[in-house]
Amino acid sequence: MSEKIYPVIPEWSKDAYVDAAQYKAMYESSTADPDQFWGAHGRRIDWIKPFTKVKNTSFDPHNVSIKWFEDGLTNVSLNCIDRHLADDGERTAIIWEGDDPNESKHISYKQLHAEVCRLANVLKAHGVGRGDTVTIYLPMIPEAAYAMLACARIGAIHSVVFGGFSADSLAGRIEGCKSKLVITADEGLRGGRKVPLKVNADAAIKKTSGIVETVLVVRRTGGKVAWTDGRDVWYDEALAKVGADCPYEPMNAEDPLFILFTSGSTGAPKGVVHTTGGYLVYASMTHQYVFNYHPGEVFWCTADVGWVTGHSYILYGPLANGATTLMFEGVPTYPSVSRFWDIIDKHKVNIFYTAPTAIRSLMGAGDAPVKASSRASLRLLGSVGEPINPEAWEWYYRVVGESRCPIVDTWWQTETGGILISPLPGAMDLKPGSATLPFFGVQPQVVDAGGEVLEGACSGNLVIADSWPGQMRTLYQDHERFVQAYFMAYPGKYFTGDGCRRDEDGYYWITGRVDDVINVSGHRLGTAEVESSLVAHVMVAEAAVVGYPHDLKGQGIYAYVTLMSGVEPSDALRAELVSWVRKDIGPIASPDVIHFADGLPKTRSGKIMRRILRKIAEKEFSALGDTSTLADPSVVDDLIRNRAS
Ligand code: PRX
Repeated sequence: MSEKIYPVIPEWSKDAYVDAAQYKAMYESSTADPDQFWGAHGRRIDWIKPFTKVKNTSFDPHNVSIKWFEDGLTNVSLNCIDRHLADDGERTAIIWEGDDPNESKHISYKQLHAEVCRLANVLKAHGVGRGDTVTIYLPMIPEAAYAMLACARIGAIHSVVFGGFSADSLAGRIEGCKSKLVITADEGLRGGRKVPLKVNADAAIKKTSGIVETVLVVRRTGGKVAWTDGRDVWYDEALAKVGADCPYEPMNAEDPLFILFTSGSTGAPKGVVHTTGGYLVYASMTHQYVFNYHPGEVFWCTADVGWVTGHSYILYGPLANGATTLMFEGVPTYPSVSRFWDIIDKHKVNIFYTAPTAIRSLMGAGDAPVKASSRASLRLLGSVGEPINPEAWEWYYRVVGESRCPIVDTWWQTETGGILISPLPGAMDLKPGSATLPFFGVQPQVVDAGGEVLEGACSGNLVIADSWPGQMRTLYQDHERFVQAYFMAYPGKYFTGDGCRRDEDGYYWITGRVDDVINVSGHRLGTAEVESSLVAHVMVAEAAVVGYPHDLKGQGIYAYVTLMSGVEPSDALRAELVSWVRKDIGPIASPDVIHFADGLPKTRSGKIMRRILRKIAEKEFSALGDTSTLADPSVVDDLIRNRAS
């Protein structure tokens, strides 16, 4: 790990909201008296009825309960749109850049208001109201933002499903939150290729138990699609029939805003629930302070709205702050590897927030495509989704940012709602590869396997000792699983699932997941999900999946597969299994390696020893540890022979 330090330079401090001393003072007051601190900062959003209570939270595993601003009434769409109309109605809310570089548009706050109101009226006309769930399966087009905000406006709960997920994954997510309305598009467009969204949505709905009554279909490509009369409705036709005025619904601070399914270490994806008031306060405050956002700046987060990063930092945080947020439909390499840098110049982007996997792949294309652009507008760079290796950090800093833009390496999770550990530009010296220090109100601790809290410089598991307003509140209709997954490992603390190191300066270095979750190109996947997909194939008897280091993706997917007796391993079968998983879950879940094995290392009680499988995948043959407890230790020699060859 790099121990190089990049001290704050005057340029970063120029209009920083806080310097080192102010950060320290604010941080101390935020943890010493959360009620006072968040009581004041909770007022950064508009309330229909102001809150009188601030924090009411318990991490006690017998009674996990998280409430913030619980007696306040507000509305997210009011805060993201209406409150900007009087003074900034003509300001651009969303710059949309299409997959095709010749296609882009600017949507003002006033236009956003009209689009969202119309769609909200369409939703109401189809019987959607407070507390109902709506599944959104759209490409990165403005309608995705309209859909999320329209739900928020009328108190419906959205569940956005990443457009790269398969029909099966979509079906599980529709069923998982019982959506009677789905919003999709005829087709998506990414890197010049069409994505059959309506086809997938049709197939998904067929697999659900008849809950979906309406499918709203956005015309994106104009491609021909199958149609179910009485269920399918063209988005544009429905909007033409309703008015552009829809009052926002007063929502309680603790009413759910959205559900987002994310992978856990076991079982089906979990429906993470975020609520209204605390989430928005936290998303907007982190957006302002971490990115040092100032009015009038153009902010670009390259994530997809299907992930939490898109929720908090394409949409909710920036729009609550009246920002201009850029939404990009395409991919970094189309039509060429300079696409990101061209967009930065085209739209004069000031703040650019992307993932290490994109940085690594663009770094592989060399400096020339970057240097061909000006990037003069850039002021700050951000990274999210996985640990950033120091080489990629240095390249990002030196080549993309020309050694003048600070990098904020932001650590957080779907569950945390917003950034928990990150530099604040102007307040913290930077160390490549470290997310540095906690945001206001966040109390990280490092614990050992026994739960002992470690002090000073140390390594262990990362937990958070107390609640912050953006924290998830529960798992959709499964509070027990919520408590099990996050509060049982270290009673009284929120367990992140990440390992970390804290150095002598108190800086945090996230080392990656310590559970059976893998992080492939910043996308989170449960090894159990890939395993259950593999074993659903008729020729597969057993499968065990682990992550292994991958130069571009951060982690790759390594699948050990035992075949049914009589089935011979072959390259053709290998390819078939890869495309099977791809079709079943989505392209992001495609295994990188299929290792056909005669047997898997198991304890005498039949438990697969994943530790050993991880080490073999990493080619760390000398670090296998004790193998004497295995039912058949010779299995390991076979696996090593196969991996080495
Ligand atoms: O392992 C951490 C990694 O991504 C996980 C959360 O994934 P997800 O819920 O999909 O949210 C991703 C975007 C917020 C974490 O448990 N992770 C995220 N950001 C970082 C990171 N690891 C290291 N450094 C980061 N900056």
